[in-house]
Amino acid sequence: MVTRRMQLGPNQAIRFDAVRGATVPVVSNVMARREAIATSLGVPMDDLLPTLAAREAQTQPLLTVASAPVQEVVMTDAIEVSRALPQIVHSPLDGGPYISAGIFIAKHPDTGVYNASWNRTQIVGGDHLRVRMMAPQHLGQYHEIAERQGKGVPAACIIGAPPSLMLAASSKVPIESDELLVAGGWQGEPLRVVPAVSIPLLVPADAEMVIEGEIVPFVREDEGPFGEFMDAYVDVGKNHVFKVTAITQRRDPVYHVIIAGTPEDLNLLSMMLDVEVYKAVSKFAKVRDIGSPGQILGCVVSIERKSDTDMKAAMKAALDAHRWMKFVVMVNEDVNPHDANDVMWAIHTRFTPDKGVLHFPGVQGFSRVEGTHVGKMALDATYPPHLEPEFRRRQFPDLGKIRLEDYLG
Ligand SMILES: Cc1cc2nc3c(=O)[nH]c(=O)nc-3n(C[C@H](O)[C@H](O)[C@H](O)COP(=O)(O)O)c2cc1C
Repeated sequence: MVTRRMQLGPNQAIRFDAVRGATVPVVSNVMARREAIATSLGVPMDDLLPTLAAREAQTQPLLTVASAPVQEVVMTDAIEVSRALPQIVHSPLDGGPYISAGIFIAKHPDTGVYNASWNRTQIVGGDHLRVRMMAPQHLGQYHEIAERQGKGVPAACIIGAPPSLMLAASSKVPIESDELLVAGGWQGEPLRVVPAVSIPLLVPADAEMVIEGEIVPFVREDEGPFGEFMDAYVDVGKNHVFKVTAITQRRDPVYHVIIAGTPEDLNLLSMMLDVEVYKAVSKFAKVRDIGSPGQILGCVVSIERKSDTDMKAAMKAALDAHRWMKFVVMVNEDVNPHDANDVMWAIHTRFTPDKGVLHFPGVQGFSRVEGTHVGKMALDATYPPHLEPEFRRRQFPDLGKIRLEDYLG
């Protein structure tokens, strides 16, 4: 509740030092703003999209260290997750406490390529957790391959990961890409890793906590309900089981939680979707910025429109950039794509319905409920350069200097 209130403004990171029943501090809303991502990577805000797009290909090898902060404390016997971790219930009707900011890393059963993804995880008790990780999510695909070979997937749930790994876990890089190497690319230096203590896996050396174990084969259990990223509850469903073999942590760890569907969750996911859109649209137009006000199944692309910009091609590229991208608005560079009011202003003043709609019926977007999110649509809310005299936005250059108290009685 306090985090939700903080997110209404000023939307800053928050740390709870005394949480009932918890022995460690809890942090939330850490990555709720794009500025947090830019600062953590040491990249100026204006360069964030181009830098993330470029660095994805500049992968870095892993740096394996012999001893690591995340293994200062090691627990392997009589594991009781409900005592080892804070028991946080995130939404009123959730089916109990969840790990909500856990990044699962695992190796592809055949190629050994590492995947990273966020997976909500229900705490059952003892060494028993339940994980939401269905294919087409890559971890679900790894598990399907392993099950065909009659085995489970050794995996680690990382809490308080380096920011670059948080981005990798949110990213839409292809299944063939090794997401630990990509994380190195995004942070501009190798990711420090250490061998896990109970499974054949490398884990991030500088995380706060690591829960090691196996996603067991051929078992599914009722998991949920859980208040999810579209602000509804996902009902109880059959999901995977994770058997914990070790918990390692720093001597004084902090425990990260993320409330699904609120600014931290949406910021991480939209950032990486927008990187995909940036790469796609940049082939057709100079992109100034991309934002996702409101939710992440669409975005607003601010471009420097030229006389020869092919708007239909740019809009199609944005919609094709990812399956979830069902609604795109194109705006000129003088519109703030992060400000829903400014975007609506552009739609009202610059969008011409008879000419500016691109609609692809029947294309399946994000899928959970049959028959929903079908079709894709883009709106062109830009004006072409030759209409500049009619559409140039009025400016009030000295507005910032006005002090109302100088004028009011
Ligand atoms: C905080 C957070 C929690 C998430 N929880 C889940 C989840 O429980 N299950 C899921 O399939 N995706 C979840 N996601 C989305 C995935 O992490 C995201 O789609 C990611 O790109 C999947 O990785 P992959 O492309 O390697 O499969 C979550 C994202 C965030 C930011």
